[in-house]
Amino acid sequence: MVEIRHSRSDDWEVLKAIRLEALRESPDAFCTTYDEAFGYADDVWIERSSADPGTSVSVSILAIDASETVGMAAGILCDESQLEVLSLFVKPAHRGTGIAQDLMDIVEAWGRTRGAKRVVLDVEAENDRAGVFYAHIGYQPTGKRETYPGRVWLHRLELEKSLVES
Ligand SMILES: CC(C)(COP(=O)(O)OP(=O)(O)OC[C@H]1O[C@@H](n2cnc3c(N)ncnc32)[C@H](O)[C@@H]1OP(=O)(O)O)[C@@H](O)C(=O)NCCC(=O)NCCS
Repeated sequence: MVEIRHSRSDDWEVLKAIRLEALRESPDAFCTTYDEAFGYADDVWIERSSADPGTSVSVSILAIDASETVGMAAGILCDESQLEVLSLFVKPAHRGTGIAQDLMDIVEAWGRTRGAKRVVLDVEAENDRAGVFYAHIGYQPTGKRETYPGRVWLHRLELEKSLVES
């Protein structure tokens, strides 16, 4: 069974490894490049992995199958009412299994507990699989479209979803 949980301080090397794998495997899916992230000091990963969900403005979530880390997601509270989801990734062999939904559920649940009323994220315009996935779980385009910094041939579309029960 795959465990989906908030990262802990001793997960920093695991978090670094799965994030670098995501950037290598799906370079066009993310604004950050592999080379940028590879250059981060260890302190960056330590800070990210040890964020306290109760007090921190950001969290990292891991999906762990036995001893293998197979996916991740991150969330940031942009202000007191808005959550942003970043860095969603599931290893290719584990796609289509529901892990992505479980990762999104735990990030959204964290945002709700911290008072967020709305969640936003960016998806690359030609990333059809991610686009279909986000549409399935209730995300809609806001109409905002921007190029990636430094890679103007890639376009990111902003999607949004309410976190308030209707
Ligand atoms: C985006 C991602 C996390 C989604 O996880 P996943 O396990 O692949 O998602 P799911 O299989 O649950 O859902 C994807 C949907 O797209 C469909 N799909 C599969 N391949 C597709 C393709 N080439 N084009 C369009 N849709 C596709 C699937 O059938 C599924 O739809 P369904 O539920 O109707 O069957 C995962 O694909 C991933 O890590 N991709 C690389 C990184 C990435 O793009 N991250 C998102 C950054 S915004």
